[in-house]
Order: sequence, then structure tokens, then C-alpha cells
Amino acid sequence: MTPNPLRWMSFPVERGADWTKTALLAYSGDAATKTGLAIYIYAITEDMKTAHAFSSLDGDMLIIPQSGTIDVQTEMGNLLVRQNEIAMIPRGVRHRVTLPYGPSRGFICELFQGHFRLPELGPIGSCSLANIRDFQVPVAAFDGKLQAGRALGNDRSWTIISRLGGNLFSCTQDHTPFDVAAWNGTFYPFKYDLARFCVLGNTLYDHADPSLFTVLTAPSYREPGTAVVDFAIIPPRWNVMEDTYWLPYYHRNTMAEFSGAIITRQDPDCPWNQGLEFQPYGAALNSGMACHGANSDAHRAAEEQETTPKKVQTEGFTIFLLETECPLWVSDWAVEWKDVLKTREANAKPRL
Ligand SMILES: [Fe+2]
Repeated sequence: MTPNPLRWMSFPVERGADWTKTALLAYSGDAATKTGLAIYIYAITEDMKTAHAFSSLDGDMLIIPQSGTIDVQTEMGNLLVRQNEIAMIPRGVRHRVTLPYGPSRGFICELFQGHFRLPELGPIGSCSLANIRDFQVPVAAFDGKLQAGRALGNDRSWTIISRLGGNLFSCTQDHTPFDVAAWNGTFYPFKYDLARFCVLGNTLYDHADPSLFTVLTAPSYREPGTAVVDFAIIPPRWNVMEDTYWLPYYHRNTMAEFSGAIITRQDPDCPWNQGLEFQPYGAALNSGMACHGANSDAHRAAEEQETTPKKVQTEGFTIFLLETECPLWVSDWAVEWKDVLKTREANAKPRL
């Protein structure tokens, strides 16, 4: 744990990895006491092995692809998750991940405590931000066949890999885990297209807190308005400010801010979509009360700009934030990457 802002320009990537090979980047709390969260990264080039399924027994998994598409077969049905979409797989739900269009990389926020939900909208009212109607839930997809009106599963041996306490375990069973012919209930996977996020913003002056861009939250109920984690995005949008300075404040905030990039350009020829490097940058972490924001160069540039409406965040990537009320521990693996670990001086762009 460090009070200094951290930035990783990139991450070392092990080629030949599948969905079971994720790397722990940072965490808070403990799955054993159902407190806090963990942040993993993945960079995969391989389908999961035939007849292998995975689940996390530690927490709900919010999957945030940075680049590439993953095809997720779950017990409740199938989810094709593309760039600029997110998916959530509940704790303990078995799933199998394959790559229909080549390598994929991204982030997973594993929530040890509670569940993700939409934020309270308060004075916003009944709609905007992420709307319920835009969340997509799979329909049952049975891995087997119908014979004389009876559903029959594939009776081959399956390997089930489970994460518990951050460690992986495996067992075998003599039937497919994807044997659900129909389901109902409230504990199910879903996906959401971030392009459908209805952005709200300042239309006259000042600069709102990025909590206005919260897509999903996991309330901690420690006190009103606190969260184990808020998932927010800084999407393309219009900045409309009349005769006023428009940069975000240089600031400190109570929550720890972890940020990464989602590449919105789906063109495979885009350099950011090629290879397994985390580009255009790896990730950044500002611990609670660490100073961050626009630096003096950005301030001077903004002073000379016209204060007319302008479209911002159009560079082809969207920054996401995982903001948590608790300080994050950085994993030994991530700290070891000292050659890519930079402090505040290197943290000028992108600005949050
Ligand atoms: Fe901040």
C-alpha cells in the first residue's frame, strides 16, 4: 500500500493464456470475511480447454474488456461480450470463455461484498445514466439434445476450476455444467453496452464529480453514499460551458481511484487493438487523498482555449474508474514491475 499515485504504462503478458490465467493487480478486504474487492487483469490468446469451466467462489465478477471479444457460455445461457461492453458473472456461476475473433484483454473487478446495482438517481429522477432496459440477460442454452421430449446432457467428463480465497482448485464431474434447460430468479449474469450510457453533464459552468458517470455501484452501507466500489466511465460527450474554465479540478478525494482504458475503436487495424500489450496505457491508481488532476501545462493550455461547446474524449478510448472507499493493496506481482511504475510526474495524461 502506498500513498503515492501509481501508473503502469503496460503489463507483462504471458502468451498462451486462457481465462483461468488472470493476474491479481490490487485488492482490499478479504473474500473470507466478505469484505472489499479484487482487481484482476486478463490477456488471453486461447479458448478455455475443451470440457473445462470456471467459476469464482470469491465474488461476483464484473468483466471490463479493454480490447477483443469474449464468448461466455454460462449456466444461464450465452453472452457475447464485445469491446465497450461489460458483463457481470455472479459468484459461483460456472462459465466457459472462448475467443471468436482472436486475442482479448481486459480487467475483472471481483466483488467480495454485496452485489453490483444501479446507483440511486436522486434528483436526476426516473431515467438516465445506465437504464434498466439496456441490460441484457441470457436465455437458457442447454448443452445437450432433446430426445422423446426429454432433455439429455452430454455425459462426458468435465473439469471445473474454482477460485476460492484467491487460489485455484479443480475437480471433475461426469456431466456438463451447462445443463440448465430453463431458469428463473434474480441471481443471473448480464451484459451492458457502454455506448448506451446516457451521459449527463454540466451545461453552463463548473465541473461535476465523475460520480455523475457511475454505471454500476456496490454500496457498502457503511454510511449513506459510500460504496465498496463504483464503476464509472468517462465517455465521449459534449462539454458545454459558457465563458468559463472547463478543466477538472486538481483535487484530492476520499475514495481510491483505479483507472484503465477501454478501446472504443473496434477496427482490428487500430494499433491499440493489436497484440496483447495494454495500450494506450496499462492502469493508474490514486489512493485516497492523493493529489491528482490536470497539471500546470494542461492548465495553461486550457486558459488559452476558447470556452465554446466541444466534443471531448473522442480519441478512441474511454477511461473507466473503479472507485473504492477502502485503500487498495497492490499485489507483489504488480509492484515488481518497477520499471513501468511511474509516479505523479508521469501522470499528466490522461486526466481524470
Ligand atoms: Fe479523482
